[in-house]
Amino acid sequence: MSSIAVWPLGADIGVEVSGVDLSQPLDDKTFKTIRAAWLDHSVLSFPAQSAMTVDNQIAFTQRLGVLISHHMPQFCLPGRPEVLVVSNVKEDGRPLGQEKAGRNWHTDYQFLAEPASGSFLHAIEVPPDQGNTLFIGMYAVFEALPADTRKRIAGLNVVHSRVRTWPILYPHRPPLSDEEAARTPDIVHPLVRTHPETGRHCLYLGDVMWAIEGMDLEEGQALLRELYEFATAERFVLSYRWQPGDAVLWDNRCTMHCATPFAEETYRRLMYRTTVRGERPFYASN
Ligand code: OGA
Ligand code: MN
Repeated sequence: MSSIAVWPLGADIGVEVSGVDLSQPLDDKTFKTIRAAWLDHSVLSFPAQSAMTVDNQIAFTQRLGVLISHHMPQFCLPGRPEVLVVSNVKEDGRPLGQEKAGRNWHTDYQFLAEPASGSFLHAIEVPPDQGNTLFIGMYAVFEALPADTRKRIAGLNVVHSRVRTWPILYPHRPPLSDEEAARTPDIVHPLVRTHPETGRHCLYLGDVMWAIEGMDLEEGQALLRELYEFATAERFVLSYRWQPGDAVLWDNRCTMHCATPFAEETYRRLMYRTTVRGERPFYASN
């Protein structure tokens, strides 16, 4: 018998899961409970999982689906392209992972035809009281939109362009090489997404949105900006304060998240992320 229990972290999304040791294999019943909680609450935190190894982390996330290997292997654990390192730490002058990752509201791998369903982030080292990760539940955002807006935007499609947004999002990074750019061509996803498992509708925004298909560029960008601003209002935001050892699993299909700055010169922050390949996003009216 498992003693798994959940406690709410925020109003719309987020629960803390206790009574689980992710360094041990999980029985099917416990895994099923976790999976159901993930679908119900979108963001799950598992405190005090310092004993979880990289292999344990991979094994756990693989039960949710196929893992995505990161397209920038220089930011992954050596020989483990499925483990992305998010860190400001440098060893012998070489960054261990991606610095200043995710500082804009986004969902992981939205620029792929099949973006991530789950992301699972394990905090190895974190600053004492900075470097929170913020989450927004996009079901609640969609439901809070005025009815006429919901009606107007349902069925619209968004062009997501990693290539065109890269220099705007990452002015501090070198430009994408032609080869990198060719690996992530523009992709179209619905603006209102039906969650493939819960059937609920959410607003499906992210940081690589570029245009609305079939709409004048500026008009489309203005609408996307307006929706992005609406969605990122304080009242929708859950701020997660990390403790070393914490692991957080989120559902990219119905949330956005965002990293926050911290005193990079003073503190080390080292996180390992595994990411699960999701379904092709779709919109179904009901
Ligand atoms: C990520 C990410 C946020 C953070 O790992 O996908 O966006 O706070 N991380 O590190
Ligand atoms: Mn991210």
